[in-house]
Amino acid sequence: MWAVLPLLCAGAWLLGAPACGAAELAANSLEKFHFQSWMVQHQKKYSSEEYYHRLQVFASNLREINAHNARNHTFKMGLNQFSDMSFDELKRKYLWSEPQNCSATKSNYLRGTGPYPPSMDWRKKGNFVTPVKNQGSCGSCWTFSTTGALESAVAIATGKLPFLAEQQLVDCAQNFNNHGCQGGLPSQAFEYIRYNKGIMGEDTYPYRGQDGDCKYQPSKAIAFVKDVANITLNDEEAMVEAVALHNPVSFAFEVTADFMMYRKGIYSSTSCRKTPDKVNHAVLAVGYGEEKGIPYWIVKNSWGPNWGMKGYFLIERGKNMCGLAACASFPIPLV
Ligand SMILES: *[C@@H]1O[C@H](CO)[C@@H](O)[C@H](O)[C@H]1NC(C)=O
Ligand SMILES: *[C@@H]1O[C@H](CO)[C@@H](O)[C@H](O)[C@H]1NC(C)=O
Ligand SMILES: *[C@@H]1O[C@H](CO)[C@@H](O)[C@H](O)[C@H]1NC(C)=O
Repeated sequence: MWAVLPLLCAGAWLLGAPACGAAELAANSLEKFHFQSWMVQHQKKYSSEEYYHRLQVFASNLREINAHNARNHTFKMGLNQFSDMSFDELKRKYLWSEPQNCSATKSNYLRGTGPYPPSMDWRKKGNFVTPVKNQGSCGSCWTFSTTGALESAVAIATGKLPFLAEQQLVDCAQNFNNHGCQGGLPSQAFEYIRYNKGIMGEDTYPYRGQDGDCKYQPSKAIAFVKDVANITLNDEEAMVEAVALHNPVSFAFEVTADFMMYRKGIYSSTSCRKTPDKVNHAVLAVGYGEEKGIPYWIVKNSWGPNWGMKGYFLIERGKNMCGLAACASFPIPLV
């Protein structure tokens, strides 16, 4: 039943992946079976050498998923498109490697004292949230967080939901400390759109998922920013007010290995940190609520509709979980 795979470490070494030490395990036949169905489902093909390496990584992820799900956590893990990857690989391909200027964002959003409604979900208020998109292997999450927030802001103000161009932000927003596939911040991207006097639509500036030259055409701009609301560092209650009264809110947080395999439920972690210099992924809070005494955010991700809960996740609210209140912001649209 147990297959011995002598090529494992050689294969891992050739691929430059640090999975070797962690993967002393040999995949059993059930894990092989799961891996092969997963390969079919995700249309994966590997060279024979890479196959053994990927099988090891997959088996080790699968064991972690099963161990996690057997314990009493507020969220479940599951297989997804990342299941043949180590967290280090995910980090390299999808997350920011160097710190962005999260704490440098000066706040200008003054909040009231509440009380706020116990729950909110902009997806249920009308046609205010575009479908979940997929950033591909480019560290462009910040562009999706940005378009998502502005798409909703325009829809809430005008009743018409536009689909906005992430690729324009990847290609053109460098002067505002954004770095295309190497990272950026929604607050800085809103400033770019404001000073650039507009952003084009997905249809006229389609997403390519890699860095390119700026091809912005002012005559084709379809959405505009009048002002940017920056939430005070770590003021999570101000995020609640903003989502309750105004708009979905862009925020950044630190993704750690346990998040990669998130499947459903309220994500909560002890491995992530809470400081603004550690955030490595930007997303969009479209609502909030509470379940069995645990308050949560409803968050739109940009890893496609098959990741998590139809592309969304819930994350514990009220504890600045993973630094999520470190640099939140939202745009005021010009309409
Ligand atoms: C599991 O966690 C819930 C909520 O934290 C708690 O109410 C319940 O007693 C726990 N069950 C076990 C078996 O530990
Ligand atoms: C942070 O801000 C400084 C000063 O504006 C800039 O030089 C630097 O490139 C920024 N870092 C990132 C990662 O954007
Ligand atoms: C909001 O944040 C952006 C980006 O960090 C910054 O450029 C802008 O000046 C801030 N707004 C205010 C009013 O401080």
